[in-house]
Amino acid sequence: MAPPSPAAMSVFCEVPQATPVAVFKLTQDFNNDQCPRKVNLGVGAYRTDESKPWVLPVVKKVEKVIVHDDTLNHEYLPILGLPEFRSSASKIVLGDDSPAIGENRVGAVQCLGGTGALKIGAEFLRRFYNGSNNTKTPVYVSAPTWENHNAVFSNAGFEDVRPYKYWDAEKRGLDLAGFLGDLESCPGGSIFVLHACAHNPTGTDPTPEQWKRIADVMKRRKLFVFFDSAYQGFASGSLDKDAWAVRYFVSMGFELFCAQSFSKNFGLYNERVGNLTVVARDADNLKRTLSQMEKIVRTTWSNPPSQGARVVAVTLNSPQLFAEWKDNVKTMADRVLLMRAQLKEKLQSLGTPGTWDHITDQIGMFSFTGLNPKQVEFMVKEKHIYLMASGRINMCGLTTKNIDYVAASIHEAVTTVQ
Ligand SMILES: Cc1ncc(COP(=O)(O)O)c(C=O)c1O
Repeated sequence: MAPPSPAAMSVFCEVPQATPVAVFKLTQDFNNDQCPRKVNLGVGAYRTDESKPWVLPVVKKVEKVIVHDDTLNHEYLPILGLPEFRSSASKIVLGDDSPAIGENRVGAVQCLGGTGALKIGAEFLRRFYNGSNNTKTPVYVSAPTWENHNAVFSNAGFEDVRPYKYWDAEKRGLDLAGFLGDLESCPGGSIFVLHACAHNPTGTDPTPEQWKRIADVMKRRKLFVFFDSAYQGFASGSLDKDAWAVRYFVSMGFELFCAQSFSKNFGLYNERVGNLTVVARDADNLKRTLSQMEKIVRTTWSNPPSQGARVVAVTLNSPQLFAEWKDNVKTMADRVLLMRAQLKEKLQSLGTPGTWDHITDQIGMFSFTGLNPKQVEFMVKEKHIYLMASGRINMCGLTTKNIDYVAASIHEAVTTVQ
């Protein structure tokens, strides 16, 4: 027998090269750029007016408390996570006075970030939603959406992940008629991933009246609601306002999931802290659901990390720290709102063609500028201003020092590149 060729000797020789994750590739390109005027509007995290990451003052304070607490240790947490974290996290999204909590039909799984919560929810639904084997059940994600939604659900075994209409590019706003049309025409029982607030990447949310119409159709057509709440507090500065849609759906009697991320609103990006809130029909359904989720977690990460969950739990369970946190979240939301107002004002005073109201109509960290791919390329190549190919920018990438340069560059892109 002929000896194997050198290439065939590697067990990895057939591994295809994967394409890099867009946001990380963009950061790499930005870091390699030597131009002193460069601006990163592609980053997926909060930045201060000095373009720095922000450790929330309340988080710093709580971390000191944790470090000095001799009752704590590094034993494994329970598989489903820290009980006081799970319950307080569910409470901030559903509201303290949620009847569903009072009826003992709300439970939760501490997860590795919002992504982990989506993952555990998706794995559960694929196995158990409406009986077993849901590989053919359609999962609908908004068009456009956070890029990972598609992948998380297909990796969980869903073979039919589809887009639902959401963004009207011409109007630069919500395509409500298209959205409602897809809700009406999809197969009954389909699963819909809904952004609870501060839609990523468009920054465009339905109004309460529009949510009511969406809920009506979903109820009538027996569609499953999987909320993704990655920005509670960031959209309006108010935790309650940003949870309005989730609470409304619960009040309408939906059984639902809500994936919560504390990466953004606590600035705990690398601690991987998230929660999957489960609202079930009754306590017995909840118990059985959590028992299966426990098995899924066991084979996924076995049990979760403690630091981020402790920071969140200590904060949410102390009235004084809770108030401080709400204040910190408002600081971040207000900076975003200020940058939105200033960018719009600067574009309008430059006389940049087009309307720019969408900059202040949109909410949350991200904005869809409406720049086309050629204009985006111009911004990156000629102006060293980095943004996503879709035209999405992170408002926190703007600062009082670079906003004039960014506005002038957008003006040049719009007026010189078609
Ligand atoms: C819409 C949406 N969902 C989920 C996530 C995931 O959050 P985490 O970093 O906590 O996993 C993000 C993060 O960017 C997001 O934008």
